[in-house]
Amino acid sequence: MDFPSEPFRIKVVEPIRRTTREEREKLIQNAGNNVFNIPADAIYVDLLTDSGTSAMSDNQWAGLMLGDESYAGSKNYYHFEATVRDIFGFEHIIPTHQGRVAENLLFSTLLEKGQIIPNNIHFDTTRANVEYNGGQALDLVIDEAYDPHLEHPFKGNMDLNKLERLIKNQGRHRIPLVMMTITNNSGGGQPVSMQNIRETRQLLKQYEIPLFFDACRFAENCYFIKEREEGYQDKPIKEIAGEIFSHGDGCTMSAKKDGLVNMGGFIGLNDDALSEQITNRLILIEGFPTYGGMAGRDMEAVSRGLQEVLNEDYLRFRISQVRNLGKMLDDQGVPILKPVGGHAIYLNAREFLPHIPQHQFPAQALTVALFREAGIRAVEIGGLMFGHKDPETGEDVFPELEMVRLAIPRRVYTTQHMVYVAESITKLYKEREKIKGLRLVHESPVLRHFTARLEEVEG
Ligand SMILES: Cc1ncc(COP(=O)(O)O)c(C=O)c1O
Repeated sequence: MDFPSEPFRIKVVEPIRRTTREEREKLIQNAGNNVFNIPADAIYVDLLTDSGTSAMSDNQWAGLMLGDESYAGSKNYYHFEATVRDIFGFEHIIPTHQGRVAENLLFSTLLEKGQIIPNNIHFDTTRANVEYNGGQALDLVIDEAYDPHLEHPFKGNMDLNKLERLIKNQGRHRIPLVMMTITNNSGGGQPVSMQNIRETRQLLKQYEIPLFFDACRFAENCYFIKEREEGYQDKPIKEIAGEIFSHGDGCTMSAKKDGLVNMGGFIGLNDDALSEQITNRLILIEGFPTYGGMAGRDMEAVSRGLQEVLNEDYLRFRISQVRNLGKMLDDQGVPILKPVGGHAIYLNAREFLPHIPQHQFPAQALTVALFREAGIRAVEIGGLMFGHKDPETGEDVFPELEMVRLAIPRRVYTTQHMVYVAESITKLYKEREKIKGLRLVHESPVLRHFTARLEEVEG
């Protein structure tokens, strides 16, 4: 295995606690079989998300002490603006406290009822923000993305035939912009190639449709391009990022991922009029344009994090840590989505638990079992997150893939933690027929997976 050791040493530690199986049994029952309802201090290895869970560097912590909390014109904003502009190249930089606010501001400003937003695959908050604002969120990723066994270097690519067909059938006026999520989280953290970005840009240019990136994991996407795409092996990550964003008209970014911070985000864009409209709304719901929803010290941490994330030793370690967890599982026959993506391992729950039908939420059942048996928290990305009733027929509609995502926080867990995770999942796999399906007993109308309660199906 290519196992680069950690390119950092540990200066501060945060104790984590092992609970007993009996404690976990009680906790998961009280939580309604939903790991979002479990207190974090009862989790041993928390792989719920890589979002906002990164360990900051000494340089970032030092930056917090330089926080300028002036209401207007904080010096940290100017540093933040200059850093973001340097990497992403956009004219206007609008700070927000996290990614979904950036999405909300963008879509509530620009989207008209009945319009369509295509994406490779929308992340759940992106989809929800499009739909909440009266739009239709369409996923146009290449078909290969839906085959969990297929080794394809750029499974996050947009299907340009599907996109062109949509534009021709619906007309340019129904598509105010196209999004591209790099890397494609909901499709397995899979990258998009530079060629696909370039070709998407060329196609959209013909129809004068803007291209926006969901840039949460842009540095990881850049690393994959460097590793896998002809002509990029000798290019620095920053240069690759510059080329990607030169093809776009704007981006939304949750800095909680590749910003290496616990909170933060922004919109970057070139359109003056749109920027002004968004800024007016920003003042109404987030804050003054030189802080958005962030403290001055948080903007400083983002500026420093965005520079650190471009470091190749860091990215090599990061991508290898995730990939090696995948290899340990694959070697034991555990079904995972392939190839391994940038930030997470996705267990293929349909193959892991073939005895549980999709309407009994196999991926959620596996998530629950993982906590109960090993104190590991993962997240379901399957029927609970994306299933819904067809508004016309009233029938349940389920997504293609039924996955459990093990998202690895950045710079947080050691190699030995990853060995523990691999061994625990392998043990669970060997005893998989003991795991039971689930049924919903409570669900909310939007983003139901966060608050749903479920019970075990007997027999
Ligand atoms: C691809 C993608 N877009 C948007 C978001 C939303 O970001 P936030 O959680 O900061 O609102 C996430 C969060 O995980 C994400 O992965």
